[in-house]
Amino acid sequence: MAEREDDTTIPVPPPDGAAPAPLAPGRERPALEIAPGRVTGPLDFRALFGNDSAVELEIGIGKGRFLLAQAEARPGVNFLGIEWSLKYLRVARDRAERRGLANVRFYRADARHVLADLLPDASVSRVHVYCPDPWPKKRHRKRRLFTAATAAHLGRVLAAGGYLDVSTDVLEYFEEIRALIPSHAGLVEAVDPLFPIDGPEGRTSYELKYLALGRTLHRASYAQPALDVQGISRMMSPDSMRTG
Ligand SMILES: C[S@@+](CC[C@H](N)C(=O)[O-])C[C@H]1O[C@@H](n2cnc3c(N)ncnc32)[C@H](O)[C@@H]1O
Repeated sequence: MAEREDDTTIPVPPPDGAAPAPLAPGRERPALEIAPGRVTGPLDFRALFGNDSAVELEIGIGKGRFLLAQAEARPGVNFLGIEWSLKYLRVARDRAERRGLANVRFYRADARHVLADLLPDASVSRVHVYCPDPWPKKRHRKRRLFTAATAAHLGRVLAAGGYLDVSTDVLEYFEEIRALIPSHAGLVEAVDPLFPIDGPEGRTSYELKYLALGRTLHRASYAQPALDVQGISRMMSPDSMRTG
């Protein structure tokens, strides 16, 4: 894998070519992309999605294979996809528009900034991070997504009863993540009742690519306990945690 995949190295396929799904009479299609770099304060999910449903976050969506499949399968959940590559993000956005999805939003940004500056405490019910760039060279390790600071924010933004789902094919990075998350996020390793889904709808493009190459995928799920470290309850209402 290239060390860093950015706009210049990612080949973007031609659009699907399908027309957007028809809208019900009188309904307007929501803008699915948050204008790049325009958000300066905490995200208001009710304003963004137009409802109070639970929000799941995917960091590094690539072309959106997983996010779009989940948004289609679970229309009662809102999905926010963060992706650094504008080209990738727009492929995902265009696909979502063609499929007529209303419960997904896209933001082109550095996920570390989104976690640190834009996500309110206990605001998301799941965070998905699949095949994050491993930055194999030692001098580049500081560019990795999973650091002590990121882990602390993952713990902060995840609501009680929520899950963090992670995968990577790089064992050394996996071990680092497994050390960081309990100690810096305060999350506990757990079984997420929804993930992993072994069918293709539960897999990302990179996961499918690596599995086809015969590589081992390391996966872990973590749960946010009902009480945070200060003992203040961050339970979400059962209604807001519903999954579809
Ligand atoms: C190896 S690809 C994996 C894509 C997808 N998760 C999958 O499994 O198919 C990593 C993706 O994360 C994105 N990415 C890397 N660092 C990021 C960051 N700090 N913020 C947002 N996206 C990032 C890259 O642009 C790339 O699309």
